[in-house]
Amino acid sequence: MGLPVFARQSLAEAGLNRLVPDSSFRDIEGRLAGYRTGSLFTPPSKEGTVIFPGFDGAAEWGGPAFDPETGLLYVNANEMPWILTMVDAKAPPTASSTVGEAGKVLYASNCMVCHGAGRMGGGNFPSLIGVGRKYSDSQFVSLVSSGRRMMPAFKQLSQGEKEALAAFVLERSAAAKKPFVNVGKKPVDPYYRLPYGATGYNKFLTKEGYPAVAPPWGTLTAIDLGRGVIVWRDTLGDNPEFSAKGIHTGTENYGGPVVTAGGAIVYCGYE
Ligand code: HEC
Repeated sequence: MGLPVFARQSLAEAGLNRLVPDSSFRDIEGRLAGYRTGSLFTPPSKEGTVIFPGFDGAAEWGGPAFDPETGLLYVNANEMPWILTMVDAKAPPTASSTVGEAGKVLYASNCMVCHGAGRMGGGNFPSLIGVGRKYSDSQFVSLVSSGRRMMPAFKQLSQGEKEALAAFVLERSAAAKKPFVNVGKKPVDPYYRLPYGATGYNKFLTKEGYPAVAPPWGTLTAIDLGRGVIVWRDTLGDNPEFSAKGIHTGTENYGGPVVTAGGAIVYCGYE
């Protein structure tokens, strides 16, 4: 006996968000038609593959709560469609590239997957627009070398490559015009020479910024593990605009529940 399914696992037209005006609905409908959709394991594609219930969809790392007295498992879940789009990797910078061009190419092959094609960020990854005011070139180079929390270290990049990235990302226009010299050039590990890049973690949203999928967007489900059935399921979290109209959508949630000996469930987390 398997666990019952507690989150939707594929997105088709019938599952789109109807809470938005008609023109906005037609927009998501048209976009969905251009994407690749299917099951949970549909591979990434150049047209964009719908990842549903999401990169961190359904149950995630907050973990469920279990009550040994009743045998009930309480699990919080997300249902958010994301779009994974592949692009051909750019050719490596050459001796005739400017620093700015080299930085752009290096950005696409090393940073775009998290910080996005337009450096706007997405998901849990910050936007890099305007970081030129926040970091000096040397602070930037040391951040890229060491990484920070969920940001990996880029020890495989040479000093010249990190400086080219600094000129591009921090928008140093004078430095960007200079010819690219690959100072401290390192042999390229074939591991890093990937044929494709990805344009980042992009949610599939309506024009208004709501998930393109019909609610629920976040749920809490009680599953009887002994019988393998769902005992109850409810939305978790509320969108103030819709709840004012009596529509309970649930929200994206990244925490976890706790169940007390008396059977009370406390949800701890953030949306
Ligand atoms: C695997 C995902 C990932 C990749 C790839 C990645 N980053 Fe990041 N980056 C992050 C995360 C997450 C943070 C936030 C770090 C923190 O919490 O302190 C971050 C933070 C940053 C910041 C600081 C932003 C700020 O506002 O303070 C800069 C600058 C940056 N990244 C540049 C880059 C560059 C340049 C590259 C490519 C060489 C890159 N990142 C590749 C995930 C990534």
